Amino acid sequence: MNQDLLGRVALITGAGAGIGRETALQMAARGAVVCVNDIKEELVIPVVDTIKDRGGKAFAVPMNIASREGIRDAIRRSFELGGRFDILVNNAAWVRYQAIPEIMLETMDRMLDVGFKSVVWGLQEAMAVMDPQRGGSIVNVASVAALRSAASSVVYSGIKAGILGITRAAAAELGARNIRVNAVCPSAVPTEGTQRNRNAERDANRIARTPLGRLGTVEDIARAICFLASDDAGFITAQALTVDGGITLTNI
Ligand SMILES: NC(=O)c1ccc[n+]([C@@H]2O[C@H](COP(=O)([O-])OP(=O)(O)OC[C@H]3O[C@@H](n4cnc5c(N)ncnc54)[C@H](O)[C@@H]3O)[C@@H](O)[C@H]2O)c1
Repeated sequence: MNQDLLGRVALITGAGAGIGRETALQMAARGAVVCVNDIKEELVIPVVDTIKDRGGKAFAVPMNIASREGIRDAIRRSFELGGRFDILVNNAAWVRYQAIPEIMLETMDRMLDVGFKSVVWGLQEAMAVMDPQRGGSIVNVASVAALRSAASSVVYSGIKAGILGITRAAAAELGARNIRVNAVCPSAVPTEGTQRNRNAERDANRIARTPLGRLGTVEDIARAICFLASDDAGFITAQALTVDGGITLTNI
């Protein structure tokens, strides 16, 4: 595979499963030293082992990133382990879909802590450790839910739309340090996290409305994240790249 990330040190949050895990595997295959984060240590170790078995470089960074200290420590640890820090992928999320009357404080707080606040605190720490000469790249995993919404997703859609705002504002502020900040907006892709909300009928309906005629895969999303993290995207910042087979902007 193209070694376009050779020697770059990357931290991927929530990389024990789904999109994060596949991004870790692809970045390692492209030469990056990958710091694999997840709150569940038992998920981190197999990802690190797989990368090493394939000849790549990886470190385990099992931590809860849902606090200022948590994401700060994950970034500092990655910097110590890798000797530098180039790429941050804010991928971790904890998600519940609740109708408006059912939204609970605990649920909303946890979604915000994992999926929103950690992105802000992550920016603060990443800019502190990214090399001022070489800069860096931050990729935030948003969602098509930032662009189009369905019922029972007030909190999720709000957070993901907020992630796009953070992406643009951070790109404006960090451009002078050569730090690029972009987002990806995936449509529904099968992962451990989405299993409970999927069924055959819903998938068939989605496929029928998708111009490219299939569901997305974690591989599709990870390739877009790797592109935005790489020098091929060297003049791209403040963007949200929708990876959805065309479903979001069609079928009006
Ligand atoms: N899968 C989809 O259909 C889809 C679509 C659009 C956007 N997204 C976004 O993509 C990202 C990944 O989604 P996924 O479906 O791969 O998720 P997933 O649930 O399969 O995996 C997420 C991982 O994050 C970890 N995690 C949760 N809280 C954490 C914490 N506090 N600290 C560290 N790790 C934590 C989990 O343990 C899990 O391993 C999320 O931001 C999600 O909102 C997913």
